[in-house]
Amino acid sequence: MSKILVTGGTGYIGSHTVVELINEGFEVVIVDNLSNSNIEVLNGIEKITGIRPDFENIDCVDYVALDRMFEKYRDIEAIIHFAASKAVGESVDKPLLYYRNNLVSLINLLQLMPIHKIKNIVFSSSCTVYGQPDILPVTEEAPIKVALSPYGNTKQIGEEIIRDTINANPFYSSIILRYFNPIGAHPTAEIGELPNGVPNNLLPFVTQTAIGLRKQLQVFGNDYNTPDGSCIRDYIHVVDLAKAHVIAVRRLLDNESGKQIETFNLGTGRGLSVLEIIRSFEKVTHVKVPYKIVGRRVGDIEKVWADPAFANNILGWTASETVEETLRSAWQWEKNLAKRTKSE
Ligand code: NAD
Ligand code: WQD
Repeated sequence: MSKILVTGGTGYIGSHTVVELINEGFEVVIVDNLSNSNIEVLNGIEKITGIRPDFENIDCVDYVALDRMFEKYRDIEAIIHFAASKAVGESVDKPLLYYRNNLVSLINLLQLMPIHKIKNIVFSSSCTVYGQPDILPVTEEAPIKVALSPYGNTKQIGEEIIRDTINANPFYSSIILRYFNPIGAHPTAEIGELPNGVPNNLLPFVTQTAIGLRKQLQVFGNDYNTPDGSCIRDYIHVVDLAKAHVIAVRRLLDNESGKQIETFNLGTGRGLSVLEIIRSFEKVTHVKVPYKIVGRRVGDIEKVWADPAFANNILGWTASETVEETLRSAWQWEKNLAKRTKSE
């Protein structure tokens, strides 16, 4: 079976993807510098799949170390490139850290691929490239808007780097995946999201408030032009997202499309407001989430949700989990984390 390099494979989306790859019979090599993840994630992957993937603690910014890694694992056939820094606020304060980490990592991989005869790369992009779309749901054809943060800009530039590289050299094949808002955890609760410090994203803040780690959730604005005034997003179960990567990698390996580059939205097609998420979470878990409406968060998009038709039709992939199941999985994971912390 083919061997896949997963950069950022101990991270949130990466670890769930590694599980799905192993379940489908792929061999996996993880490269991660553990800057935003924990080595114990490998135990979770092993518990779920019965297999401990190869792991290399390497910084993708380090060209020489990556080159050596490719020398060691000579039969890698495709790369799924998750490794990146992703905190929007931090990227505003430390833009060079973000440009260096996210772009140099990608450039290193693209430079090393032909040297090691690896044609295929799946790239983690984001719905952030659309900014506030003029038309909803947003399709892949929608214009790319000026990035609202250096982080968002690294995704736009990352996509351009891949396009330009392929235009110059037809050796490569790439699938760019634009994720909407991944939430939830593996149904076993063995792996999930591990936010560093105070969470920036909604769901970890909701679960941490529900379990009592945070006193109160702040809802950023209820005066938006939406039915209940709070912002709308397309929340997708991380396992659904992970499964799309397996399909994408197979498509590249089989050269199914005959195209050098394709871009897909990965979302459910359903927009939910912040207040709807809180209500659903409370209903599913029977736990109250204390919250307060506060002012808008700078840079927030009012509403965005995907048109996933292209991924549905071309990849034969659909986000199938309900939001209730997704929220339940996030809660199970939070409770499991609390248990582990207590027993430590
Ligand atoms: P994450 O932080 O959980 O995972 C990223 C992993 O990459 C971490 O394990 C981190 O240690 C590792 N990493 C970072 N820089 C590295 C480097 N230079 N070398 C080696 N390893 C490095 O994040 P995630 O949520 O799993 O996101 C994965 C990818 O998806 C990222 O590219 C992110 O930008 C993108 N993305 C995430 C979201 C989201 O909401 N989570 C949405 C859209 C796109
Ligand atoms: C969701 C909604 C907040 C926290 C970010 C990145 C984006 C992408 C996904 C990677 C918004 C509201 C949140 C809180 C709240 N990442 N909220 N109280 O803003 O869609 O996107 O993550 O590419 O680039 O910008 O996700 O989870 O931060 O927020 O009311 O404590 O929840 O205002 O409406 P967002 P999020």
